[in-house]
Amino acid sequence: MKKDQLTGKTALVTGAAKRIGREIALSLGNSGVNVVIHYRSSAGKAEKLKQIIEDSGVNAWVTQATFSKETDYSKLISNVKEVAGNIDFLVNNASIFPKADLKGLGVDDLEKNIQINSWAPFALTRSFFNQFDSGKVVNLLDTRIAGYDWNHVGYYFSKVLLARMTKMMAIRFAPDFFINGVAPGLVIPPEGLTESYLEERVDRVPLSKYGDESDVAESVIFLLGANFITGQIIYVDGGRNLLHEFEG
Ligand SMILES: NC(=O)c1ccc[n+]([C@@H]2O[C@H](COP(=O)([O-])OP(=O)(O)OC[C@H]3O[C@@H](n4cnc5c(N)ncnc54)[C@H](OP(=O)(O)O)[C@@H]3O)[C@@H](O)[C@H]2O)c1
Repeated sequence: MKKDQLTGKTALVTGAAKRIGREIALSLGNSGVNVVIHYRSSAGKAEKLKQIIEDSGVNAWVTQATFSKETDYSKLISNVKEVAGNIDFLVNNASIFPKADLKGLGVDDLEKNIQINSWAPFALTRSFFNQFDSGKVVNLLDTRIAGYDWNHVGYYFSKVLLARMTKMMAIRFAPDFFINGVAPGLVIPPEGLTESYLEERVDRVPLSKYGDESDVAESVIFLLGANFITGQIIYVDGGRNLLHEFEG
């Protein structure tokens, strides 16, 4: 699908107020797509982004939700439908990335990772499927799913689960829904860390460099425009997935 074929569509992007989600939302706006900006706590950033996206000539809305056990994802989708009308695309980007090793992982930690990183994207995708006739979904995964991450095991398990969910939903929600994944590698340091986090790790990347948010956004846009691809995962990681071992 060329840029002009994306024009006029509407996307819901979760965790869109900053970092990678923000870049995806901006790229969608620049491709002529109306954007529903979901946020949890970054209200000010979400409002500013809404203004920037509207200035690019499309519609934008903001919606707040804190994903947890209590969240009614079906209602979230129907609320967005009421505000924005049709939804064509869902980008499941919101995520948490807590540290934990195998010895320290508790069931509550694991459950929280699964609630936010696996169940929320799954339940949103299923509600999207139940309430609309067709659509495309991109789930943000992580290059770590190709191997092991010994330092963020709860996060790692939740993304592996989401990768399997992506493929199974691609089969069961076909032919009118396309469900794919993008698995970034070194892109931006975890919140609170500096660029040195990336620099210290580039020697583990075959292409000897780290990417940026726009590398990820480009792949998301590509998948949302593709008409013969489902159940696939694009690694946007400079080849890091080929090496299989990750120490955080
Ligand atoms: N950064 C990287 O280099 C990298 C590498 C590999 C994979 N990824 C994946 O790419 C995606 C984006 O990465 P990122 O680093 O930009 O993400 P991030 O900053 O860690 O999180 C994105 C957003 O998720 C939202 N969020 C967190 N907990 C939530 C909850 N309980 N309910 C609803 N929203 C919640 C937050 O929204 P508020 O700010 O509004 O609170 C946050 O801004 C993630 O899925 C991540 O796993 C990133």
